[in-house]
Amino acid sequence: MSKLFFLLSGENPTLPVSEAKAILEAEGYPYSVIEKMDQILRVESTVECVKIVQLRTAFTKLCALELFVAEANYADIGKVVQETNFRDVLSLGESFVVRIKRIKNYADQAINTMDLEVKLGRHILEQTPGVKVNLKHPDKTFVGIITNGKLVFGLKLTELGSKTFSERRPRKKPFFHPSAMPSKLARCMINLAHVKAEDTILDPFCGTGSSLIEATYIGCHTLGTDVAKRMILGCRENLRFFNINAKGVILADARKLPFCKIDCIVTDPPYGRSASTLKSTTKELVQSVLETAYNLLTEGHRICIASPKTLNISIIGTSIGFKHIESHFAYVHSTLTREIAVFEKELKH
Ligand SMILES: C[S@@+](CC[C@H](N)C(=O)[O-])C[C@H]1O[C@@H](n2cnc3c(N)ncnc32)[C@H](O)[C@@H]1O
Repeated sequence: MSKLFFLLSGENPTLPVSEAKAILEAEGYPYSVIEKMDQILRVESTVECVKIVQLRTAFTKLCALELFVAEANYADIGKVVQETNFRDVLSLGESFVVRIKRIKNYADQAINTMDLEVKLGRHILEQTPGVKVNLKHPDKTFVGIITNGKLVFGLKLTELGSKTFSERRPRKKPFFHPSAMPSKLARCMINLAHVKAEDTILDPFCGTGSSLIEATYIGCHTLGTDVAKRMILGCRENLRFFNINAKGVILADARKLPFCKIDCIVTDPPYGRSASTLKSTTKELVQSVLETAYNLLTEGHRICIASPKTLNISIIGTSIGFKHIESHFAYVHSTLTREIAVFEKELKH
């Protein structure tokens, strides 16, 4: 086991931490959380887990092997860095760069990030003969994150490409609808549902297909239904655009689904604003789809479902028999905050 840290997106206060933990759990990596900081999650786990975290995540921007944590002031950093052996991670002849990032304005009076990059770079050069600095194409990148009054410093192992999700945002898809979910949020919900590669996931309100597309990229089989023919045709067009073969994209009412067993469900029902609820209320639809989901899911498996916060979906889900695992809140606009709820069909003893 090694000490690792994940640099998390600041887009939501709780989703990034839960997503990172959900990926480790779904993939069966043992881990323990050392510390949760603002936009940093420090964990102990196997180094191999970072590849799969980076492949699956929406909200982990970077994974690193932790080398030290110091108070965010020059005196403490100077002391701690003396005790760090860079020879373990830098071989003779290799080049490196040091990058320091500040979260919000932590320690902005105490530390100048460019100055710290230079100081740490010099120290590494002095302590590790036979290595050199290369600012543009280094063999190794050291990253330091200043947050919560500390500097968390380590060797970068993986980094999320900046275009990964923007290339699949709703407006980039050939079929656009204003009810479409952002691709990052769809991916995060899939992760929260604890899916594994080869699982079959269902989105009973598939709309433009955001969740089906994101699930395919982590190796799942997908099924989508929607009651509107226009959405089904649009969803199929979007899947074709990304060369995705779903198991099925079917015109069906989410309250009467033509399936027997499903590994997991990820969905965003209509709220009656940009997506019609077709004479039902959102509450009736959510109640009905949760009941259907309870029958379709295998024990120990999960549904991740979005709904307006005002609906109190955790009460509806638990009254049906689900275990409510967690809820997160995502602000959309002044009259809509989404609740992203995760429920599990518990194992019967
Ligand atoms: C909020 S949108 C889903 C958006 C989707 N997540 C996306 O990213 O494009 C809800 C969808 O539910 C569909 N819908 C409404 N009532 C339905 C029902 N009873 N059964 C199945 N789909 C329904 C609507 O046509 C709409 O496409």
